[in-house]
Amino acid sequence: MTALRNSGFRHIEVERIAGALGAEVRGVDLGQDLPDEVIAEIRQALLDNLVIFFRDQTLTPETQLRFARRWGEIHLHPYMQGMDDYPEVLEIVKTPQDKKNFGGSWHSDQMFTAQPAMGTMLYAVEVPRAGGDTMWTNQYLAYESLSEGMRRMLDPLKAVSRGDNFSSHDGKTRKEYYADKISMKVKDPGSTQTVTTHPLVRTHPETGRRALFIGGHVHRFEDMTEGESRPLIDFLMQHSTRPEHTCRFRWRSGSLAFWDNRCTQHFAINDYPAETRIMHRITICGDTPF
Ligand code: SIN
Repeated sequence: MTALRNSGFRHIEVERIAGALGAEVRGVDLGQDLPDEVIAEIRQALLDNLVIFFRDQTLTPETQLRFARRWGEIHLHPYMQGMDDYPEVLEIVKTPQDKKNFGGSWHSDQMFTAQPAMGTMLYAVEVPRAGGDTMWTNQYLAYESLSEGMRRMLDPLKAVSRGDNFSSHDGKTRKEYYADKISMKVKDPGSTQTVTTHPLVRTHPETGRRALFIGGHVHRFEDMTEGESRPLIDFLMQHSTRPEHTCRFRWRSGSLAFWDNRCTQHFAINDYPAETRIMHRITICGDTPF
């Protein structure tokens, strides 16, 4: 087990949960106002492991927001309505009456906006007895494991993403798609930009590593038609989500996951038809991909 421990930390203990990405962080109470040196270690654990997990936390929307604000400005979802008293907190709810879940396709948060989310924090309030796990991919590995010829071909490409009507929505707008999903409210994005072009291979601004920036919001490559783009999009999605590029997290109430959207995709598994799952999600603003 020692080899799976990330050493060199003074305030936290970090243990990897899978070969590709993901680590559990122990020894920290996120409900407290944490000193800068602890935040710096958590940041390093995030950069090293791409998604980190904290167990047995007791967080209110206020304390989760206080922790989230240590990483930057809070991003408001252009389509989904936040909590009445905490618009920055999106309550993700699925009850036995809901057939669809939120986030049930591979994606990176808000990649359809000009400055996609840097990170997302998801806190489990109520989880099913079994099921409702979330999976993540390592998009550095997805890029690095391609052949040199393929990487050369992909390097100059730009991908066009759209926030509405994306691949997992069966050609429907969000409003139409979620029409029978009674537990969450879709809103009009107003003037927020929801169709955006980004480099297909992006450089992580903190690690300097290159990652394949693809997800379910991508519907074509710049200067190509949707029909021309689709086979390559499908290949890159399938390649990114190969089991050896992923990790999977089993939630308990009080667990918090914090992931880096600049180098991961994630997928919320919808396999608990008769149970309720309630999560509090806060998304942190990012910068312009390059
Ligand atoms: C999301 O896509 O942010 C939702 C993830 C989840 O509920 O597991």
